[in-house]
Amino acid sequence: MNVDEIRALKGKRKIIMLTAYDYQIAKILDNLEVDIILVGDSVGMVVQGHPDTKSVTIEDMMYHTRNVSRATTRPLIVSDMPINSYNTPQQGLKNAQKLLEAGAHGVKIEGSYPKIVTTLLEHDIPVMGHIGHLPQTSEKVRVQGKRPEQADQIWRDALQLDKLGAFGMVIELVPLWLARKITADVKSPTIGIGASKYCDGQVLVTNDLLGLDADFKPKFVKRYANLHETISEAVQRFIKEVKTCTYPDKRHTYH
Ligand code: KIV
Repeated sequence: MNVDEIRALKGKRKIIMLTAYDYQIAKILDNLEVDIILVGDSVGMVVQGHPDTKSVTIEDMMYHTRNVSRATTRPLIVSDMPINSYNTPQQGLKNAQKLLEAGAHGVKIEGSYPKIVTTLLEHDIPVMGHIGHLPQTSEKVRVQGKRPEQADQIWRDALQLDKLGAFGMVIELVPLWLARKITADVKSPTIGIGASKYCDGQVLVTNDLLGLDADFKPKFVKRYANLHETISEAVQRFIKEVKTCTYPDKRHTYH
């Protein structure tokens, strides 16, 4: 998949985007109909165990992008620019180039930074926007755009990203009507997370979809598996079999 193919999907079929941070999950997604693999800075919470994404570094993102890129043949790889990696256009350009060298095909930037977006696009670096709830800078996880002036600002940010040439934009945690309006008003595809079915595609953190963290249950996440339970049961069986000397048995032993 390239960015033109992603753009061309708008109005034709839904775009599927999921996160991966490591080789094995990326390999599974690579074999499925996933259009975009996002190496998200959600790695800070999901893999590193921090309360938010604010401590993720460009080195972290390069490391995980390399791991994902080793497994990926078909989907577009988009890597998040972490907080403080795009404070100036020059810094943003240098760091975006590092992510491309690590294997990303494009980068995602949170919020409204027209100068950064323009600089990256001038250097042929595909940019995806991210509007609505912005985990890098928001104090609290909450639905954005309930107040008319806030909704208007999010809509303006979407229009600006579209005009600048972003190849897509994530819309996070906004009311249905706003996601629907933005999706109708922009040419580039919108990818929703907690932003209703009226986006051009959907993204979830793969670990959330798989139910890996028993305690994480926000309204917008649907669990398609309960891997927390599956893993716990498997490990409990392993413990029992080791303690009762039933594993390893002769099928798992060399003579
Ligand atoms: O970092 C991430 O995983 C994201 C998604 C939630 C869109 O930005």
